[in-house]
Amino acid sequence: MHPSFWREIWILFWIALASLLFGLISDRYFIAAAIGFGIYIAVQIRHLNSLHRWLLNRTQVEIPEAEGLWGDVFNEIRKLMKQTERRQDQLAGMVERFQSAASAMPDAVVIVTERDEIEWANRAAGRLFGIHYPSDHGMRLGNLLRDPEFARYLAIAEYAEPLEMASPNQPDSTVAIQIIPFGARQKLILARDITRLQRLEQMRRHFVANVSHELRTPITVLSGFVETLLSQPQVRAEELRKHLTTMQNQSLRMQRLVDDLLTLSKLETAPPHRREETIDVPALLNAIKEQAEIISGDNKHRITLEADVGLKLLGSREELQSAFSNLVNNAVRYTPSGGDIRLLWWQQDNSAYFAVTDTGEGIAREHLPYLTERFYRVDSARSRASGGTGLGLSIVKHVLLRHDAQLTIDSEPGKGSTFTCVFPAARVVRAEASSARA
Ligand SMILES: Nc1ncnc2c1ncn2[C@@H]1O[C@H](COP(=O)(O)OP(=O)(O)O)[C@@H](O)[C@H]1O
Ligand SMILES: [Mg+2]
Repeated sequence: MHPSFWREIWILFWIALASLLFGLISDRYFIAAAIGFGIYIAVQIRHLNSLHRWLLNRTQVEIPEAEGLWGDVFNEIRKLMKQTERRQDQLAGMVERFQSAASAMPDAVVIVTERDEIEWANRAAGRLFGIHYPSDHGMRLGNLLRDPEFARYLAIAEYAEPLEMASPNQPDSTVAIQIIPFGARQKLILARDITRLQRLEQMRRHFVANVSHELRTPITVLSGFVETLLSQPQVRAEELRKHLTTMQNQSLRMQRLVDDLLTLSKLETAPPHRREETIDVPALLNAIKEQAEIISGDNKHRITLEADVGLKLLGSREELQSAFSNLVNNAVRYTPSGGDIRLLWWQQDNSAYFAVTDTGEGIAREHLPYLTERFYRVDSARSRASGGTGLGLSIVKHVLLRHDAQLTIDSEPGKGSTFTCVFPAARVVRAEASSARA
């Protein structure tokens, strides 16, 4: 038994003993006992009464203090109260954290009752659905979302597949809506903005279609010639040579395409460079210039290089070589014979610049924003005839992206174009020796 209990027994024992002694002296046992136990009961009733008062008005009245058994009871109640308070605080904190997390979510979350009345909604629901909490609390979902497609989806109550539809609040965005029944026939409505995903999916489809189309022409030509040659056992050597040359050109075209596709896919999927070297850009440009002269051949372009020889760059040699030669080769291909092509490499305000300027055909303004898209060409026939794949500038864009650099294009039809790559100061390496111009 608890010590307080024994204390209570002791008190009763002493009251009984005192009444007995008083009774012995005065011969009034009953009155003595009645007074003793009466006082005892009065004290108990007082404690009981203060407990009752506290229970009736818990928020304003303090839990009473007492000695003995009552004191223990009050202390236990106090402890229980503290525990409950702490648990309530925890729960409230949890609910608050959940709500703020759900509020910050980019996906829309709406909770509706079994009668489709809005119980709670997060911030994204305002953006995607135009449902605002708390102002729309208690409103019928159907009154706020009047889209017939959504109404049908809600009514059919078959929610295994999400519903994809234009966002009721932003018609050029697409949302995927998923309804999840829970609890007592309540529903959780989730909506995600899938505009970007859809665009990516569309881009992927276009890309596959483009690649197939690009490959189909050379394959058709090749198989056509093979068939012709097979059906003619006797072919003149001269004619055979002509056919084989065409076939070789077509295979080279396919090879270029596959090479560019592989380069592009490597650039897109490769992780950021692990180790970057200091690239001697002037030397690299010199080599590119020599190659360009070979490509120019009989067209006799005047190709000049002006480079700050002390200006080097942190990056990947292979990638930069690919990007720079794509720009230079474009200048050679899209500039008529005898034109000027200038390669410039300089530093300005801590940034490094590489520019290719040509006196070629130029590009009309409306094409400029799309030039770096895969397979985008101003004149497809011309591009193909010059050995282009339509992927060159996409490769340039990706290489520059991986070097924190930017591409700007200035062009005027009939006059010429300038493609400029701007590298940030963090990539610039200045060799001490000299900054002379080569
Ligand atoms: N220096 C330039 N002068 C004129 N047009 C250019 C130049 N560079 C690129 N273009 C245009 O941009 C298009 C895309 O270039 P690119 O991605 O390198 O593909 P392509 O394989 O066709 O060269 C080209 O088809 C061409 O129409
Ligand atoms: Mg090109």
